Amino acid sequence: MEHLELAAPGLLLRPWRDADARAVHDALGDPDIARWNPQGGPVDAASALRWVRRRADWSAGDHVSLAVTGPDGGALLGSVSLHQIHGENAAMGYWVVPGARGRGVATRAVDRLSRWAFDELGLHRIELCHATANPASCRVAERAGYRAEGTLRESFRYGDGRRHDEHLHARLATDR
Ligand SMILES: CC(C)(COP(=O)(O)OP(=O)(O)OC[C@H]1O[C@@H](n2cnc3c(N)ncnc32)[C@H](O)[C@@H]1OP(=O)(O)O)[C@@H](O)C(=O)NCCC(=O)NCCS
Repeated sequence: MEHLELAAPGLLLRPWRDADARAVHDALGDPDIARWNPQGGPVDAASALRWVRRRADWSAGDHVSLAVTGPDGGALLGSVSLHQIHGENAAMGYWVVPGARGRGVATRAVDRLSRWAFDELGLHRIELCHATANPASCRVAERAGYRAEGTLRESFRYGDGRRHDEHLHARLATDR
């Protein structure tokens, strides 16, 4: 399963490889990704490689993660992951590199991984949280079929050091 590849329109979701570490280093240094996908410390070449290897290793059973690329599997466009997999539940996470934003990359990747997880992992509910101050992520959630369920107050400390309110969204296997 760790060699899984998923095709989506104009995209390939493929396994992480060591050669992605440099692009991941650059991506995690982007101010928006550093703010909304904080890593809990500074990112250097070594930690970027550890990041890639951790995500490529699904053996713990608690996460799955794929690199998002163009159809040729080449240059990195983004990341899409399911975390906290337990029973029939999981949480969705993602980012897209600055040069690939605004073209539906995140929406298509999130939708594709969600459908695979419902069909092949037997998940029933996937949650997606984003800061209320991150409207682009709210649009991704809505367009990928994750309905808004409410607002969580000061629920997570983001990369700017502040605890932010978050919207909780979720998609169910039974949603159309
Ligand atoms: C959020 C993010 C993943 C979106 O990726 P993307 O591939 O550009 O997303 P899509 O193109 O699929 O959709 C983006 C949507 O947000 C909208 N959007 C973009 N910037 C926006 C803004 N400042 N305010 C409101 N909407 C915005 C776009 O118009 C689009 O919606 P539309 O298709 O209805 O027009 C990307 O911007 C990113 O990586 N940001 C930094 C890290 C991050 O936020 N990660 C998610 C943490 S929950």
